[in-house]
Amino acid sequence: MYDYLLGGRQNFAVDRALADEAIRSSPGMVAAVWAFRAFLRRTVRHCVAAGIDQFLDLGSGVPTVGNVHEIVLRDAPHARVAYVDHEPVAVAHARDLLGAEHRVSVTHADLRDVAGVLSAPTVRDLLDFDRPVAVLMLAVLHFLPDADDPASVVAAYRRHLQPGSAMVLSHGSDDVDDPELAERVRAGQRVYAQSTHPTVLRSRAELTSWFADLELVEPGLVDVARWRPDLTGEQPESIGAYGGLGLVR
Ligand SMILES: C[S@@+](CC[C@H](N)C(=O)[O-])C[C@H]1O[C@@H](n2cnc3c(N)ncnc32)[C@H](O)[C@@H]1O
Repeated sequence: MYDYLLGGRQNFAVDRALADEAIRSSPGMVAAVWAFRAFLRRTVRHCVAAGIDQFLDLGSGVPTVGNVHEIVLRDAPHARVAYVDHEPVAVAHARDLLGAEHRVSVTHADLRDVAGVLSAPTVRDLLDFDRPVAVLMLAVLHFLPDADDPASVVAAYRRHLQPGSAMVLSHGSDDVDDPELAERVRAGQRVYAQSTHPTVLRSRAELTSWFADLELVEPGLVDVARWRPDLTGEQPESIGAYGGLGLVR
């Protein structure tokens, strides 16, 4: 669905049908997925500018325009990127796209299995956790039900990070000032409830607590569209998802 909403071609009729319903029920859905993707680009570039050259992208998705390794390798050709996803289709497309690229790996794993992810040869042999690593959990943690305790999953990855590392999170939320936006977010959630990936919306306060001892860089945890937007002048419209970049000090 996400690939289709982004204008990609790696999707099935069933994805397209439900994504079209999401667009009908929740106007702004296409703008929202592009805002998620733009947040990814801006935060990854921020990490590269901060000197981070190792990336663990959890829930990386079907490769589409502006993948993490494309953004990273342009400015840091020596960098390493490990993609992880639990969807076989996303993993197969990523492997196809990357071919023999030795600076990038693809791992088929569930991000909730922290020990399994970190001990996978495709992660362990590519990334050196004795040096700074950026862990990306973008537009993925809202697929984890409360029973999976996503806060403890975030904390478990955090424990493996050295100073100078970063954690970047983005997550859907209807905890917004604008009631009309909140309703649009909930309408989108109702459509996803019919898919294999229902979503859970969480409050800004709860998401802030996941950053625990990390130092949130400015502007803190804000709507992803408003995190250091490229555009000057008018403020971009909020989409109903919070994003932040926390540094390990
Ligand atoms: C909406 S896409 C986000 C893709 C990318 N992170 C981005 O921000 O553009 C969410 C991805 O997370 C993956 N995902 C969901 N739950 C997961 C889990 N428990 N472990 C690994 N991947 C997961 C899905 O398969 C999907 O590819």
